Amino acid sequence: MNKTTLLHEGKAKKVFMTEDPDLVIQEFKDDATAFNNKKKGTIADKGVVNNAISCRLFTMLEAEGIRTHLVEKLSERDMLCRRLDIIKAEVVTRNVAAGSLVRRYGFEEGTVLEDPIVEFYLKDDDLDDPLMIEAHAVALGVASLDELAVLKRRALEINAVLKQFFADRKLRLVDFKLEFGRHHGEILLGDEISPDTCRFWDLETNEKMDKDRFRFDLGGVEDAYSEVQKRVLS
Ligand code: TMP
Ligand code: ASP
Repeated sequence: MNKTTLLHEGKAKKVFMTEDPDLVIQEFKDDATAFNNKKKGTIADKGVVNNAISCRLFTMLEAEGIRTHLVEKLSERDMLCRRLDIIKAEVVTRNVAAGSLVRRYGFEEGTVLEDPIVEFYLKDDDLDDPLMIEAHAVALGVASLDELAVLKRRALEINAVLKQFFADRKLRLVDFKLEFGRHHGEILLGDEISPDTCRFWDLETNEKMDKDRFRFDLGGVEDAYSEVQKRVLS
């Protein structure tokens, strides 16, 4: 399968059409942004690492009965995917208080949430991806109430699988962001799952092993990404 025209270029990936109208190729870049593009940089080999991690996780989720857009890993940076009509909602699931949950609601960072929290954000860079309640999503035509219920249920199922997978690799899954899309009447998990889109803390030391190292200039960004890759592929 070959790349034909560029369909979309995002902050971390390019998406290309292929000869098959049902399939696209996601190419993972080394570009890193944070705070909706206010901070920019590159993380050496991030594209290679995030493609490898995402392919492994999608394959594992498929084996657990969760449908994803992954068809196959084509090369170091390229993932062959089913083409999705992306639902303009970022679905964030949280197990431990961090990031905007701390900023917005005053939780102490590290507080374990008794039940996971699922949030929806509107996928719109011009508006800074605002948090939205279901009624906003429906009024905006982002998704139906039924679809939102599916997204929430799916996010919680994925959380249960990923939490255990990472715990087995001595990583705490603090929170993560998922994107879904429609494909021939089915809702599939899309995008990526990587240290760009998750928070991982080392189970023993609580060290941050994700994009927060880039966001807050903590150093050791590449080392953290490759350590996560090593543990995920183990
Ligand atoms: P937050 O605490 O900043 O709301 O982020 C929650 C999770 O979502 C965290 O694991 C990082 C991820 N995330 C993205 O993948 N993309 C984004 O644009 C944002 C804001 C967060
Ligand atoms: N992904 C967002 C950005 O590119 C925000 C973040 O991850 O912090 O700015």
